[in-house]
Amino acid sequence: MERLISVCLWLILALHLVLRVAGNAEGDALNALKNNLTDPNNLLQDWDPTDTNPCQWYNITCNSENSVTRIDPGNANLSGKLVPDLGMLSNLQYLELYSNNISGEIPEEIGNLTNLVSLDLYLNVLTGHIPATLGNLRKLRFLRLNNNSLTGQIPMALTTIDTLDVSNNQLEGDIPVNGSFSLFQPISFRNNRLNYPPFAPPPPPMPSTASTSSGNSAVGAIVGVVAVSVVLFSAPAIIFA
Ligand SMILES: *[C@@H]1O[C@H](CO)[C@@H](O)[C@H](O)[C@H]1NC(C)=O
Ligand SMILES: *[C@@H]1O[C@H](CO)[C@@H](O)[C@H](O)[C@H]1NC(C)=O
Ligand SMILES: *[C@@H]1O[C@H](CO)[C@@H](O)[C@H](O)[C@H]1NC(C)=O
Ligand SMILES: *[C@@H]1O[C@H](CO)[C@@H](O)[C@H](O)[C@H]1NC(C)=O
Ligand SMILES: *[C@@H]1O[C@H](CO)[C@@H](O)[C@H](O)[C@H]1NC(C)=O
Ligand SMILES: *[C@@H]1O[C@H](CO)[C@@H](O)[C@H](O)[C@H]1NC(C)=O
Ligand SMILES: *[C@@H]1O[C@H](CO)[C@@H](O)[C@H](O)[C@H]1NC(C)=O
Repeated sequence: MERLISVCLWLILALHLVLRVAGNAEGDALNALKNNLTDPNNLLQDWDPTDTNPCQWYNITCNSENSVTRIDPGNANLSGKLVPDLGMLSNLQYLELYSNNISGEIPEEIGNLTNLVSLDLYLNVLTGHIPATLGNLRKLRFLRLNNNSLTGQIPMALTTIDTLDVSNNQLEGDIPVNGSFSLFQPISFRNNRLNYPPFAPPPPPMPSTASTSSGNSAVGAIVGVVAVSVVLFSAPAIIFA
């Protein structure tokens, strides 16, 4: 009997340890990030890996299952690098580390965050490519990577996004044209070394017969179309100049 009780106690202890370790895997990932960052204002001092979970940590938000959904220390004067461990935060929706001094590359493991809605890394000093793995993120809608030193091409696979800003980097190659790329304005891309796509012809304007006399209506419509086309086609050239 005594032996049975001690076996039970041992099992309970073992289970507790297993749950604790599993429960804090996300804390460990955030702690790896913290260890790779310099934090002059000590904002991340309560990111303590011995806590049962990271849900009370500075600028961390969890869902009701104590799984991390937001990382929010933007504008926090952090330097250092992002870590591949971030790819483990399977419920992460918002990764907001903008306006810091973060260097190095965007880990391709970010492409494992299938619930990610927003990736805001603008105003840092990131280098390297925009990982093509971001194209796997079907829920990603906000991608703001402007004002970094990113190089290489814009991945064609980024088609679900509806707010994009990659301006002020050193990106090159063609701006993709399919998916939501057709909706983005040149301001999202300016200050790179990108090739702008040929612009889709504007929808044919309705010939206005009211303004011209009956005999000249066809000529008037053609002149009107040409004039409108000149304005529409030259506008992008002015913007890009
Ligand atoms: C940076 O993060 C990695 C995990 O990605 C970890 O192995 C390493 O120890 C961290 N660096 C420091 C200085 O803690
Ligand atoms: C981050 O924490 C600071 C201090 O508590 C707070 O002022 C700020 O609103 C937080 N940011 C977000 C996005 O939660
Ligand atoms: C950020 O850090 C720099 C240098 O470490 C310091 O000069 C500046 O005052 C800091 N800014 C804030 C908002 O803490
Ligand atoms: C930015 O980070 C670099 C190291 O990567 C450091 O030398 C520099 O002082 C940091 N600047 C600020 C303003 O924190
Ligand atoms: C996360 O992404 C990396 C690189 O994109 C991949 O090699 C790895 O298998 C992924 N891990 C998981 C757990 O999906
Ligand atoms: C982003 O970079 C551009 C070009 O260097 C600069 O004019 C702009 O002020 C920067 N944006 C911010 C918010 O610093
Ligand atoms: C977008 O276009 C590129 C090349 O033109 C192609 O490889 C890619 O599959 C297209 N993506 C979608 C979603 O149509």
